[in-house]
Amino acid sequence: MYSEVTHTTEVNETGPFLTTLLFSVEDRVGILDECLSVLKDLNISLTRIESRPSKTPGWDYDFFVDFNAEDSKQLTRVVEALRITKQVKIVSTRTSEATEEQVPWFPQKKSDLDTFANKVLEMGEELDSDHPGAKDQVYRTRRAEITRFAKTYRHGQPIPTVNYTPEEIATWGVVFRNLIKKYPTHACREHQHVFPLLQQNCGYKEDNIPQLEIVSKFLKDCTGFTLRPVMGLLSSRDFLNGLAFRVFHSTQYIRHHSKPFYTPEPDICHELLGHVPLFCDPDFADFSQEIGMASLGVSDEDIEKLSTIYWFTVEFGLCRQGGEIRAYGAGLLSSFGELEHCLSDKPEKRPFDPYKTAYQKYIVTEYQPIYFVADSFKDAQQKVRDFANTLKRPYSVRYNPFTEAIEVLDKKEKIVRHTQNIKNDMLILVDALERLH
Ligand SMILES: [Fe+2]
Repeated sequence: MYSEVTHTTEVNETGPFLTTLLFSVEDRVGILDECLSVLKDLNISLTRIESRPSKTPGWDYDFFVDFNAEDSKQLTRVVEALRITKQVKIVSTRTSEATEEQVPWFPQKKSDLDTFANKVLEMGEELDSDHPGAKDQVYRTRRAEITRFAKTYRHGQPIPTVNYTPEEIATWGVVFRNLIKKYPTHACREHQHVFPLLQQNCGYKEDNIPQLEIVSKFLKDCTGFTLRPVMGLLSSRDFLNGLAFRVFHSTQYIRHHSKPFYTPEPDICHELLGHVPLFCDPDFADFSQEIGMASLGVSDEDIEKLSTIYWFTVEFGLCRQGGEIRAYGAGLLSSFGELEHCLSDKPEKRPFDPYKTAYQKYIVTEYQPIYFVADSFKDAQQKVRDFANTLKRPYSVRYNPFTEAIEVLDKKEKIVRHTQNIKNDMLILVDALERLH
């Protein structure tokens, strides 16, 4: 049983072609082996393989495989060979000419983020030995129960509700109670502005852990950002790519109750108290998406630079407001101790400059010795945009908010069409100004 193969781009006679195949299989022992041996027999060397539970009725798992086909004949042989197994449903193939400068794959539709669902680097279901909950079987079982929601979550679905236990709510309560005392003197203006709104609209209170679905809807109304549940830490590339779609990957589990003021990883306290309030701010949302857009299709070295910028801004950023320095980074706004430390005289504070910030080394296990101070989110966004223009990518990309997709501006016609849209918008604005006069 299989379906027709679809080529999303024209296949030339001469190769090589960077090809992505997606095929679905039934859940039975050895099935993947059989499919891979077909490819091996054709001397195909895979550059990527990913799996996820299949959304197609009748199939259990989807596999994505990337490889370079020598020419269209070889590509046809691969497709035919997979058909011969009769246990594979080829959903689609995407081909592009493999050039000297290959652009790493990146999501182009919001639903492409589904491919990240099972790809977590660490934590997730497994815990490091130094995690406070590593030896607590009850905690681990509960955590696996919660991460399972993220594992099976797919784009467009409502985020599943977690019925938090009294113990989990108590842990949240300790963190919440202590942090809100600090916000009036330490948090940036934007955080202080939106926090009461989150209390009124999303159930932010000491004895309630807000549900991601409710918070995500509120966020969407504010800035178009949405939340997506995640099992644990994603790779920097995947995580940053999500920001390009105004999607923030958020954990749903909570830190271990034995250490309410410490967590070696993001948890629901960090996401809801640190990140969410800032994503409600339009300028901060634009800034975050700017980093995400810059990350699409760039090299691993450039991803490293962008994730360092992300670290020193979205996670540990400070900003200047009304002659004072305030915290806007989520790692600060969700840590009682570091929130105090960052505004003290102990750490060094430097002006935010992506050309320098991108190369600054940092530590993850202690309070930061160096912080970067932004003049404003708009200013930081412009600086990141300038910096992104220096990164190597053979074309520009643009986010289309109507289709929630990334447009690759690699052809003159696409650029002309986009320019026409901007021209139409400009005419509306000019007309609006004239009417005001
Ligand atoms: Fe974070």
